[in-house]
This record gives sequence, C-alpha cells and structure tokens, in this order.
Amino acid sequence: MGWNSWNHFAGKVTDADVRSAADSLVSTGMRDAGYVYVNVDDTWEGKRDAQGVIHPNERFPDMKALGDYIHSKGLKFGIYSSPGAQTCARYEGSLGHEAQDAKTYAEWGVDFLKYDLCSFQQNMNKAEAEHSGDINVGKELMIAAYKKMGEALKATGRPIVYSLCQYGVDQPWKWGPALGANMWRTTDDINDTYGRMIAIGSSQAGLSKYAGPGHWNDPDMLEVGNGKMTEDEYKTHMSLWVLLAAPLLAGNDLTKMSAVDKGILTSKEAIAIDQDSLGKQGDRLYESGDLDVWTKRLSGGRVAVGLFNRSWDTRDVSVDLAEIGFKNGANLRDIWAQKNLGHQSGVFTSRIPKHGVTLIVVSK
Ligand code: GLA
Repeated sequence: MGWNSWNHFAGKVTDADVRSAADSLVSTGMRDAGYVYVNVDDTWEGKRDAQGVIHPNERFPDMKALGDYIHSKGLKFGIYSSPGAQTCARYEGSLGHEAQDAKTYAEWGVDFLKYDLCSFQQNMNKAEAEHSGDINVGKELMIAAYKKMGEALKATGRPIVYSLCQYGVDQPWKWGPALGANMWRTTDDINDTYGRMIAIGSSQAGLSKYAGPGHWNDPDMLEVGNGKMTEDEYKTHMSLWVLLAAPLLAGNDLTKMSAVDKGILTSKEAIAIDQDSLGKQGDRLYESGDLDVWTKRLSGGRVAVGLFNRSWDTRDVSVDLAEIGFKNGANLRDIWAQKNLGHQSGVFTSRIPKHGVTLIVVSK
C-alpha cells in the first residue's frame, strides 16, 4: 500500500510534489491506515555520466536526499524504470545497465521498483522478426530481461519490492513469481472513468489462484480522488480492488483530498479485507447481465462479499448465504454503511444505486 505519482502528476512530477505527498500521507492518516510506499513513477530520469551511472533530471535535484526525507516520515521510497533503452515517456531506461542501476537505487535507499516494459517491446519485435515471427522468442527475451533486473536487485542485498509492469500480456502471473517478482500488472493502464475501471476490475475474474503472500496480481493503481467518478463509482473501485487483494497505490493529489475520498481510501474495514492475513484473492461468484457478486475468503472463517450493480438504474442484487458456506445463516456487516445488519439466513438482497456496490463481511 502506498502512493504513486503517475495517475495525477504524470510527466510533470517534481521533488516538491513527492515530498508534499509524503507529508500528506502522514497528516491525512493515510500512512497509519497502511499506505507507506511513496513511488516516483516515470520522468524522474536524467542522463548517464561517463561511467554509465544514471542521474535524475532537474526536477529531482537529489534522489538520496529525497529518499532520506521519505524515510524520515516512516515511509518507503519507490522508483521506476524500464528494461528497454527508453521508458514509456521516453526517458532513460535500464537496458545494459541493470546491475549498475540496481546498485544506484540501493544507494539512494530505494525500497520498491516498478519495471515497465515500454520500449523493450521493440527488442522483442526485432528478435521475433529474426525468427520468422516466432512470438515465443520475444516472450523468452522479455522474461530474461525481467529476470536480469530481479537478480540485480537481489544482489544489492537491500530488500526491494519488485513490481513488473508489462500490461498483463503473456500471463505474467505464471512466470513472475519465479523471477522474484512481488507483483505484476495484469492489465493495460487504468484511467479515471467508470468504464475503464470496471472493465479492468471485471477482467480479473479467474486470476485468484495466482496471488498469495509475497506475490500479487496488480490491476493497476487507484483513481479514487482524481475527480471524474461519482462517490458510488469510487466505492465500487475500492471495493473491487480490496476483494482482489490488490496492491493499493493511491494515485490522487493528497494535498487536495475531499473528506469523502479520504474516507474511501482510509476505510479501516475495507483495507482489512484487502490486507487480510490469509492473503487470498477474491473472485467472481457469478455474473448476471449488469449485476455481479464477488467473494473473498477471510481469516476466521469469514467471507467478504461485494454485490455490484454495473447498470444505469437502481437494481436489487442478491447472494445466497448457503452458497457461500453459511447454510445456517450468518452475521452481516455493511462495510460502507459501517453498520451491523444482524443475523440473516437464506438469500440476502441489497438495493443498489447505478454503478454502486454493497460490500459486506459475513461471519458465523
Ligand atoms: C505505462 C505504465 C503506467 C505509467 C506510464 C509511465 O503506461 O503502464 O502505469 O507507469 O507507463 O510512462
């Protein structure tokens, strides 16, 4: 859990923005709610010197000092690079400098690396073309590139969370863990629209078996607080991501956060679903037209259930408590209403506004 600069600041991010984000994580209570990584995404990179050592650009005067500042707040420092010659925003990538860059990051006190495929796709295309279009050649080259950086990070001796970003092509959930990856993007980029967010979230059905403690599916960063979705839509976003046991990386401007957005991001009970000690990712129980139900097994024999209404009207969404293991009924807790719904049995039904959700925790 943490914050990443990309969704709000994109290519304009500065050292001052990152320090303000760190300050805000503390002052808003987000750090204490669990958001500890402060991740600088693309566009911090400058030029390499004669020895090949990477330096930040003029918007980031001193990365070691930035890392020290972040650490002084009880937070962790994340950075970004690409296995290609260039990053997605066409800044300097790590190709041919993997060990050297890993060493530099460790010297700066980096605790997290997002490694984004970007221009490495050109290397893959070239290799495939040289092998009569064999896509396996490209895939093997990509896996080798991710492995190389994984080994370079390990060799630094500093624990650095390794986050693969290659948009979910070639099923990274199958080969990521063996490379030491702690998380891997499962989709292309999110944006601050209900349509894109729900499409990404829904596409995660079936992936639960690949996630577990230390290695997670990553359906991309949060858009909560960026302003283009309604409160119900942001609650849907947060609910689906916690059911998915997704890495929770806020992507908004933390210095200008509304009380509603802060409430969604810092909901203790929603976060507890995401961070539950079993480390089980949830999955879709069923889908019927624009309505669907997702469940996630929690510690203590509890189950989190999300009832989602993807339609444009208010609709009733139901779940049969017997079907999720409570044939003698169960106690229900509504997470967003912060209300106990009492002991119920049989079919539980909730009236849900358009694009809304009811998130409950069910226990014996
Ligand atoms: C890709 C990634 C995004 C972001 C940008 C930065 O699009 O998927 O998350 O890191 O690159 O350029």
